[in-house]
Amino acid sequence: MARKKPQLVENVTITGIADAGMSVGRSPEGEVIFVQGAVPGDLVDVIVYKKRKKIKIASVKSFVKYSEERTDAFCQHFEECGGCKWQNLKYEAQTKFKHVIVSDAMKRIGKIADVEIEPVLGAKDVMYYRNKLEYAFAPYRWLTREEVANMGEIKQSPSAGFHISGSYNKILDIKQCHLQNDLNNDIRNFIKYFCIEHQLHFYNVDTHEGFIRNIVIRNTTLGQWMLIVSIAKNDAKKIKLLLEAVKNQFSFITSLYYVVNTKKNDFLLDLDFNLYNGQAYIVEQLGNVKYRIGPKSFFQTNSYQAKQLFDLVVEMADFSENDTVYDLYCGLGSIGLYVSEKVKSVVGIEEISAAIDDANINAAFNNITNCTFYAGDVKDILEDNFIEKHGKADVVITDPPRAGMHAKVVETLLALEAPKIVYVSCNPATQARDLLLLKEKYDVIRIKPVDMFPHTSHVENIALLKLRQS
Ligand SMILES: C[S@@+](CC[C@H](N)C(=O)[O-])C[C@H]1O[C@@H](n2cnc3c(N)ncnc32)[C@H](O)[C@@H]1O
Repeated sequence: MARKKPQLVENVTITGIADAGMSVGRSPEGEVIFVQGAVPGDLVDVIVYKKRKKIKIASVKSFVKYSEERTDAFCQHFEECGGCKWQNLKYEAQTKFKHVIVSDAMKRIGKIADVEIEPVLGAKDVMYYRNKLEYAFAPYRWLTREEVANMGEIKQSPSAGFHISGSYNKILDIKQCHLQNDLNNDIRNFIKYFCIEHQLHFYNVDTHEGFIRNIVIRNTTLGQWMLIVSIAKNDAKKIKLLLEAVKNQFSFITSLYYVVNTKKNDFLLDLDFNLYNGQAYIVEQLGNVKYRIGPKSFFQTNSYQAKQLFDLVVEMADFSENDTVYDLYCGLGSIGLYVSEKVKSVVGIEEISAAIDDANINAAFNNITNCTFYAGDVKDILEDNFIEKHGKADVVITDPPRAGMHAKVVETLLALEAPKIVYVSCNPATQARDLLLLKEKYDVIRIKPVDMFPHTSHVENIALLKLRQS
């Protein structure tokens, strides 16, 4: 059977931003098309490569006119790498579109029409802002579009880089990544070429052969570095060969770990981490609080913006020294510890017990004695006995995962009637859904988006709610 010819649609005007680095446009006939490779304001001819129900997904064939919002991407890997899809948008345009994402969610889902959405708090640094990157190693590299298009003789080689979006075994070889302090590139490239030179083979996820699998690089604003090297075989000689070389080459690494992963998946948190050199943790400081970060600890990945975010929480909550604060979905207690000096007590709840261990370690590390942390699901822990034990909250800070709060937690908050709720979210859609429910008893007072991840479509959003006086 003859294959259908791909459909060409000419003069599509790109009008907005969609998910996953896509944009949305309209054909001259008014048909809506999702387009890859364009930005709002572009006028493009596109090839439709997928049709799902009434939705068409297309890629740009040629540009008729370039958008004024456009800029040149600074990274050589931009076309192939899934990491920074918005790099070809001017930064002011990025924050403008993030504002649109939040405004749309608040209006459409939250039915919030009467609260001005404040301008996005932009990032000071739009490059080198991450404090953690993870690279995978593979015996082959993902071929760039240019190489495939040229169809010349292709030279294969091992790769160290990022997974191609949605793929477990395709690795884009990264030469330079601008997301973390440039030393991250030195570390990755050194390990790559050292392993090639000494025949420490790159792990093949299909055959499960090879030695080096992943590296995780973390750093802090205090100049401390942690490197975790994940290898597939507990071969003491090879481990020593590699890690001694890394240790000698990068004397600034504060904490050098390795982990032996003989499993088929790349998940490391259920494995033992072996400290090879240096101290067991690195230290980050936000405001007056120092955080010890171990190899298994979660920490906000943009330290500078995390501080901006926490300062906004403090500003919105407007704490009093007698306040009891509930810090729901508290992770390693980063927000609770940050605000603890301003209030009487903080009670944190988090389902990952290792994070609660970190929260307790960090409280002790800072001589903070007014914080108590509990491990468990917020929906199970936050109930009558708990509230009776800790006293009614004056302020609730809630920072749930992308799925938002469980309906039972929203119900409990409505019954709890804390005078203020500060709701931090990484997903404005689920946040808007929860705000709609909370509006039964609360007024939404302020909404302020924060950009934690320049060049991506992610946006963090903070909402302040006050209990309505009846
Ligand atoms: C967006 S993070 C917030 C982390 C923390 N506020 C911080 O700034 O580091 C959401 C946290 O909620 C936790 N979590 C997810 N579902 C949960 C649940 N049902 N009950 C308790 N904690 C949960 C996750 O493990 C994660 O640490």
